[in-house]
Amino acid sequence: MKASVARLAAVVVAAAAPALLAQQPAPTAPSFAPPHVTGNGPRALAANCAPCHGTDGHAAPGSPLEPLAGRTAGRTIEIMGQFKAGTRPATLMNQIAKGYSDAEIAAIADYFEKQR
Ligand code: HEC
Repeated sequence: MKASVARLAAVVVAAAAPALLAQQPAPTAPSFAPPHVTGNGPRALAANCAPCHGTDGHAAPGSPLEPLAGRTAGRTIEIMGQFKAGTRPATLMNQIAKGYSDAEIAAIADYFEKQR
């Protein structure tokens, strides 16, 4: 009897968890965040883009994505802003862009501009 109550409780908790998670507000930036980007930070941030956009923004052969390497920082910042605002069609980038502050996006964009 006791065991079945515990099992039932586990099932109820498992069923309720997604609903509880969905109700959580978006996390606020941690208080230690500024100045955001350390010396090696831009490269580390840009590495988050590598799985889909290639190492240092050099798209893998056959990739349908335009390379990020060599793109002007202004253009990358503009596009990332559009993804953030939801005004540019996207399947993934709308969510990814929202994970970065404007300072971080500027650092990433500057890093990719310098890649040849
Ligand atoms: C999980 C895969 C994935 C990751 C990681 C990723 N991207 Fe993207 N990116 C895409 C896809 C897919 C598109 C096409 C738009 C869409 O469907 O969201 C795209 C499009 C873009 C574009 C527009 C390209 C163009 O010329 O239209 C930019 C700029 C961009 N990504 C920048 C970044 C940056 C900067 C990062 C790292 C912070 C990043 N992406 C990480 C998948 C990814």
